[in-house]
Amino acid sequence: MITKFLSASLALLAVFPGLAGAGQGDPLAPTGRWSAYTAGRAPTPPMGWSSWNAFATDIDEEKILGSAQALVDSGLARKGYRYVNIDDGWWLQRRARDGELVIRSARFPSTVREGRLPSFRPFTDRLHALGLKAGIYSDLGRNTCSQAYSPDDTDLPKGSVLEREVGLYGHIDQDISLFFSEWGFDFIKVDGCGVRAYGAGSEKVISGAYREFKPLLDMESVARSDIPAVQALFQQIDAALIRNNPDGDFVLSLCIWGAGNVRAWGKDFGNLSRTSDDINPTWGRLLTNFDSAAKRALYAHPGAWNDPDMLFIGKGDFDADHLTEARSHLSMWAMINAPLMIGMDLRHAPQALLDVFGNQDVIALNQDPAGHQAVVAFDSAEVQIFVKTLSTGEKAVAVFNRSAAPLNVDLTAAHLKFREESEVALMDLWSGRNQNFRKQLRLHLDGHQTLVFKARGARVLADGLYLSEQPGNVNPAVDGVVWPAPDPTIHRSAFGWQGTRSSGERPIYAGWGGAQPDSAPYGEALRIRGKKFETGLGVLANSRLEVRNQGYRRFTAIVGVNDSARDDRHAATFTVYGDGKVLATSRALKFGDEGQRINIDVSGVKIIELVARAPVDDPATLPVTWAEAALLSGAGAADVSQQ
Ligand code: GLA
Repeated sequence: MITKFLSASLALLAVFPGLAGAGQGDPLAPTGRWSAYTAGRAPTPPMGWSSWNAFATDIDEEKILGSAQALVDSGLARKGYRYVNIDDGWWLQRRARDGELVIRSARFPSTVREGRLPSFRPFTDRLHALGLKAGIYSDLGRNTCSQAYSPDDTDLPKGSVLEREVGLYGHIDQDISLFFSEWGFDFIKVDGCGVRAYGAGSEKVISGAYREFKPLLDMESVARSDIPAVQALFQQIDAALIRNNPDGDFVLSLCIWGAGNVRAWGKDFGNLSRTSDDINPTWGRLLTNFDSAAKRALYAHPGAWNDPDMLFIGKGDFDADHLTEARSHLSMWAMINAPLMIGMDLRHAPQALLDVFGNQDVIALNQDPAGHQAVVAFDSAEVQIFVKTLSTGEKAVAVFNRSAAPLNVDLTAAHLKFREESEVALMDLWSGRNQNFRKQLRLHLDGHQTLVFKARGARVLADGLYLSEQPGNVNPAVDGVVWPAPDPTIHRSAFGWQGTRSSGERPIYAGWGGAQPDSAPYGEALRIRGKKFETGLGVLANSRLEVRNQGYRRFTAIVGVNDSARDDRHAATFTVYGDGKVLATSRALKFGDEGQRINIDVSGVKIIELVARAPVDDPATLPVTWAEAALLSGAGAADVSQQ
């Protein structure tokens, strides 16, 4: 049976080799290590400012340094907004003779040097002198996004076909060394249009304006994306960054917009990974971008964060006349550990918006060192409740009214995994008001309003933490998804790139069926043989979860096949490893079998791995449950017995 599974899975890996996660051989074999990305400097989500939403390619030194100065003068820099990132539009060309990149120095006068190519060093020196960090932008391919999608833009690179090839492709070592060692940047966003938009059939290529680049990414089809090739490029960039930053002070931001199933693997290749196409300043688009990251809590950890794109506070539905929406935008980005990148011209920011960006309590949620992305505690199309465990053991809770209508919402102690009989103390992070409740509290929300509280109470699990309360410590190294399908739960807004000039946005972001806290992989409840569990991890069979154990002594869970399974023939076997060694193995459990309790000593173990194996070709038919999975402080007798 196992052999059959292995050969089936190796056959699938031949189709989608990028899905293996653990490289050659048996992807479910324990490794005893944490495999998500931890290089670079992003122990908490990076915060700062980027030029794109405010200026597109119409950038210059005055605009960027003006916003940088405003970050400092407004006090936002002191509150953590430190990265000042140049986005698309800074290039003039790549010099044909030696491949050196040339800056549009007419727009960046400080870069001009007598008799030599312009350099960004004086510019980054200015930012560093202000106590800020500097970010640059490039592309995985030969050409850029604006070259692909804004052909009439007057700020595009100039010169021959080859001179306009300003992207990283073929120049990774040269460019990364230039950006980081010579110019002193600290952050790079790597876009992917160059490996997506320059196929032989594209108008740009047919017209002779650009060379063909056989697309490696297809937004609408994972199967037509060459995931290993894209991963190999990111790996080369990563290696070059490490070489050029001996102190490790860099941030690598992947920007392939949820394509190529990157919502599953971005966490292994960079510090930030975009989960959707671009945000725009409409409420509907905010929902799309939020949804693309909001249910990926297990795919974000200190060092590697989901990126639903930059903040659009300051424009359209989030301008100074829409402070409710602006606060919701910041609150929800903070809750899901998104990078907080301001996208407005800060030289002209009204105080009311500076106050939104500057809410220190909300920033603190985002920057909490434990790095646990918020988890959904209540879900519906209109209203959602998200709960985030803080390093202090307290919780943050956000009640998010997605709809335009006012709503009443009952927040319960159970949503917070707090004990019903004890008192819960709430502090409202926008009004500063304190209130206490027992069991439940009726809240009123205006349309599009988000209430965010810091909550103190007695945790249901006094002696430890459920794994679903600590997603930042759980890494789905292999999540069992072999056929990445689009996630149907992501809001499809009317105003994406195409507006309404098409048949509408289709579900395109793969990731459906991935590992979930407090939910089965396809959104059903965690249930084993009719018994419902409020907490636990849901994942497909043939998965391996890495868990960082921060000094706990006992691991407990009830394991079994979830009632949402479509396969009642095959059994799953659950194995727990401690630093690579088997600690416990369950019986072979099929759909309808009672859950089996695992209760083992993990004292001294650093990495626990939770492996569920089943001899099935398509694990999508066999969702499994690590119900009530928890790490506990107390010792206790080990047993692996029937519940
Ligand atoms: C892509 C990215 C945006 C921005 C533009 C620049 O669309 O997703 O964030 O960088 O390119 O052209």
